Amino acid sequence: MNGSVDATPAGYAVTNWISRVAGCGSALPERRLTNQELATTVDTSDEWIAQRTGIKERRIAAQGENTSDLAIAASMAALRQAGIRGPDVDLVVLATCTPDRTMPATAVRVQAALGMTGGIAFDVQAVCSGFVFALSMADNMIRLGQARTAVVIGAETMSRIIDWNDRNSCVLFGDGAGAVVLRAERRTGDQPRGVLSTHLHSDGRHQDKIHTDGGTSSTQTAGKMHLEGREVFLHAVVNLAQASQEALTANGMTKDDLDWVVPHQANQRIVQTLGEKLQLPKEKVVLTVDHHGNTSAASIPLALAEGVADGRIKENDLVLTPAMGSGFTWGSALIRW
Ligand code: ACO
Repeated sequence: MNGSVDATPAGYAVTNWISRVAGCGSALPERRLTNQELATTVDTSDEWIAQRTGIKERRIAAQGENTSDLAIAASMAALRQAGIRGPDVDLVVLATCTPDRTMPATAVRVQAALGMTGGIAFDVQAVCSGFVFALSMADNMIRLGQARTAVVIGAETMSRIIDWNDRNSCVLFGDGAGAVVLRAERRTGDQPRGVLSTHLHSDGRHQDKIHTDGGTSSTQTAGKMHLEGREVFLHAVVNLAQASQEALTANGMTKDDLDWVVPHQANQRIVQTLGEKLQLPKEKVVLTVDHHGNTSAASIPLALAEGVADGRIKENDLVLTPAMGSGFTWGSALIRW
């Protein structure tokens, strides 16, 4: 699998191999929690939530329904679409901040459920940017010949780390999972299909702006989430725009080349502001936050799966996936579907 390495696009090693997207899938818990229902338990209203965030409802995992259950269902759906059997997968990278257990990684539970008896499986923790980080890890391994067929998953049960009495945060999040299958393909032609480049960033100076008040090492609990919404909002808009532009510049492209932007779904206003900054028509931006809420690492693959299922995202479309999350972490991937 090894081949020569060129250094384009900027800072991104291009080899003989490219990670082609072979399929995607998603899974959502059955239970819908509407704004109206939330307003019966915490001091908020449908109007406030809808106007400030665009969210109307979110899904909440049932008791006993864990992150791995959603991840397995999403992975199986993605493999079905790709026409690939579980045992033929040799890499599982799962992004989550809500793992089933502190150890082992939730990814190995997925690996076993897919019937894999070999290969590599591990978790990635970059919160709401997790899917883009996981995609980048899998893509790097495929391009460098360490894997041939990868399942990349974003899966979360955010409902388990929410303080349901905190109206500042509990209205924002939901549960779900999305997955894509990547397959190593020989890179051919001027416009190869697959992951064109990924771009990742972190800045730990902002680690307290979205955080849990616990963890295995410090409190021996998962803790509950706290966030400084306005601060996050301001950084999110800047970082998402920067990561988007970075991907375009690295590939010598402009926003006019894009068919779809599928951003992390934190808040409709953040997504709209990003669209305005990139000067994109809003029809080119896939928005799911209204019915999913913010599902952290799951939000981009959930939105990708929805865009593919309803026929918007088609073969050869150029898709940009900017993400931003706690840490702060942020980044983007540019994919020719
Ligand atoms: N219902 C009613 N009122 C509320 C609610 C609520 N659910 N939440 C806050 N308020 C009140 C506040 O208490 C405040 O009242 P006050 O003026 O009397 O003090 C008022 O509404 C305004 O609060 P702000 O925080 O200034 O409201 P803002 O317009 O900034 O919207 C929001 C808040 C929606 C959280 C927004 O800042 C946001 O979307 N931030 C980014 C999203 C985010 O933090 N995501 C976390 C994950 S990270 C990521 O995904 C990128």
